[in-house]
Amino acid sequence: MSDQPRWKIYVTRRLLPEALDLLKEKCDIEIWDHDNVVPRDELLKRIAGKEGMLCQLTEKINKELLDAAGPSLRVVSSMSVGYDHVELQQLKERNVLLGNTPGVLTDATAELTVALLLTTSRRLVEGTHHVKNGTWGSWKATWMCGPGLSGSTVGLVGFGRIGQAIGQRLKPFGVKRFLYCGHTPKPEAPMLPAEFVSQDELLQQSDFVVVCCALTPETRGMFNSAVFKKMKKSAVFINTSRGAVVNQEDLVEALESGTIALAGLDVTTPEPLPVDHPLLKLTNCVVLPHIGSATLETRTAMAMLSAENLLTALEGKPMPAQVKL
Ligand code: GLV
Repeated sequence: MSDQPRWKIYVTRRLLPEALDLLKEKCDIEIWDHDNVVPRDELLKRIAGKEGMLCQLTEKINKELLDAAGPSLRVVSSMSVGYDHVELQQLKERNVLLGNTPGVLTDATAELTVALLLTTSRRLVEGTHHVKNGTWGSWKATWMCGPGLSGSTVGLVGFGRIGQAIGQRLKPFGVKRFLYCGHTPKPEAPMLPAEFVSQDELLQQSDFVVVCCALTPETRGMFNSAVFKKMKKSAVFINTSRGAVVNQEDLVEALESGTIALAGLDVTTPEPLPVDHPLLKLTNCVVLPHIGSATLETRTAMAMLSAENLLTALEGKPMPAQVKL
């Protein structure tokens, strides 16, 4: 037994056993050992006096939580690549470190985005619905038609790791042009190749608009009526980033009025989306339950990386994936 005191940590969700075993070597763990979200009052009670916390994107990390934790808290490790649930300034003021899980979920998220794009554009959910409901009928020339990728223009809103991986996976389908927008051109763009264009050009020229950017104050609510109106009427809109980049009322209106043709969403506001939500009544919209990174290999890698982030920060070593505050 080493003399090293054991770190006191709180884990906000049932964790894959490999990651829990790693933490158990050096930490005294309190855990919300369930698959659902820890109730806020339980979280606020349990976090008091902890030195580290391993959380999910469902936990709001804000002043209330940091006050409840008290000055012992040194690191928050989120098992997610996105960290819009964390108030960065609050962490910074208290010198609390933040870890996330970039990289390990890129492939799974890109793969899911391609699956969602094809499901939406080729109307797979609508099609299976007809098969199951006896409304299939005879073969008809224009029935269940949707836009193909071959010869198309794809606009990637967000050309980071995930955006680039989506592009690489879509390329073999015969996409003619990839466009991306942002603050500055990216050095990786010539590899696809992707053309750096203004946001308006991307919206006007793309057959598929794929959103894979982070949720920031700048991107919050970015996809509104005015933006949908700039897209082609035949446009397919895909979002696998965060629900809050979209004004959902405006999206419903755009889909109902034919301003755009189809939408595929892996993320919504709120999550879960109420079953009576207007988006779920539309036949030209596919909604998935935020499963971008949901392969077992990826979730295991995310759990391991978040455990490693937590341990290295507590040991005062550089974290494998630290968010710059
Ligand atoms: C998932 O949405 C993540 O941020 O990891």
